[in-house]
Amino acid sequence: MIKVIYFDKVFPDMVELIESIKPSGVTVTYWYTLNDKEKEQALNSADYFLVALYKITQELIQKAPKLKMIQKTGVGVDNIDLAAAKTLGIPVANTPGGNATSVAELTLGMIINLYRKINILDRETKKGNWMSWEFRPSSYEVKGKTHGIIGFGNIGREVARLSQAFGTNVIYYDLRRLEPAEEKRLNVTYHELNELLQKSDIISIHLPLTPDTKNLISERELALLKPTALLINVARGNIVDEVALYRALKENKLLGAGIDVWSKEPVEDNPLLTLNNVLATPHIGAGTRDTLQTVLGLAFENIIATTRGKNPRFVVNGVTTIQQNR
Ligand SMILES: NC(=O)c1ccc[n+]([C@@H]2O[C@H](COP(=O)([O-])OP(=O)(O)OC[C@H]3O[C@@H](n4cnc5c(N)ncnc54)[C@H](O)[C@@H]3O)[C@@H](O)[C@H]2O)c1
Repeated sequence: MIKVIYFDKVFPDMVELIESIKPSGVTVTYWYTLNDKEKEQALNSADYFLVALYKITQELIQKAPKLKMIQKTGVGVDNIDLAAAKTLGIPVANTPGGNATSVAELTLGMIINLYRKINILDRETKKGNWMSWEFRPSSYEVKGKTHGIIGFGNIGREVARLSQAFGTNVIYYDLRRLEPAEEKRLNVTYHELNELLQKSDIISIHLPLTPDTKNLISERELALLKPTALLINVARGNIVDEVALYRALKENKLLGAGIDVWSKEPVEDNPLLTLNNVLATPHIGAGTRDTLQTVLGLAFENIIATTRGKNPRFVVNGVTTIQQNR
């Protein structure tokens, strides 16, 4: 039997889904259902860690003497101690692209919601307040706007495709600029970050959190935005300086912000939650059944391949082979 620990919170329908996707020959132990003694036992015999957002620390990795690979169901690996895994020769793999559609669709949903105040009007209509006119002067169409995409990987590109369907002009910033022919094919234009921030009506962030991207959008960058700009962060909380964003929103330096990811999750006492021009969600970018099926499928496929002697795919910490004798 191949022993896998699944670390994130589960509910009965989540367990049912994982059990239905899990290949034969694999047993999954659900971390959240275990007491301390059972956790120690599970770590002792685990062959694979399967994780979405739970923090995989050096201590957890060291307590699993048989651990062969850490498999992320998603893309951002900032919750995993990559260096500790590397020191022990344990590959960390992710599932690139598997969640791009869900994150991109949430991005577009946030844009439309912020432009049309759907969440506020839903609440008010249900309370009996007929606010048919109040928001019209501050509501907008997506069509014709300039959408600046920061981070043009799998998610950024899918956002571009969906946004263009609404009639936007897409500009992008990324560490790696595309070939001119590719830019032409995708109908996008490259801009340096400051220029993108100045020109865009809608800005969405699709970067990994790294030392280079921490607080990439801070007071100086926020000062460049148009007062009618929307900022959508569906990447990682610490890419945007939340204190500076709160101040900018409070002073109406931008129209609104859609925030799915936070410096501290779950969010506690964050002043951003008190603002009407903030649309807040609890890290649900990839949170659909469709994405779960895709990323769990990719993750189990990778695990099974390594049990048959293949090297893992999508390794992100440079360890490309499995130590079968662990
Ligand atoms: N909200 C959610 O639930 C959710 C779900 C999935 C992914 N994410 C986040 O979205 C991020 C992007 O996902 P993806 O699948 O598009 O990843 P990706 O690797 O396909 O794309 C990331 C892009 O960022 C660029 N980049 C990296 N560092 C940069 C820097 N310092 N400056 C400029 N560009 C830089 C890369 O060149 C790449 O094009 C993930 O790392 C993750 O943090 C969030």
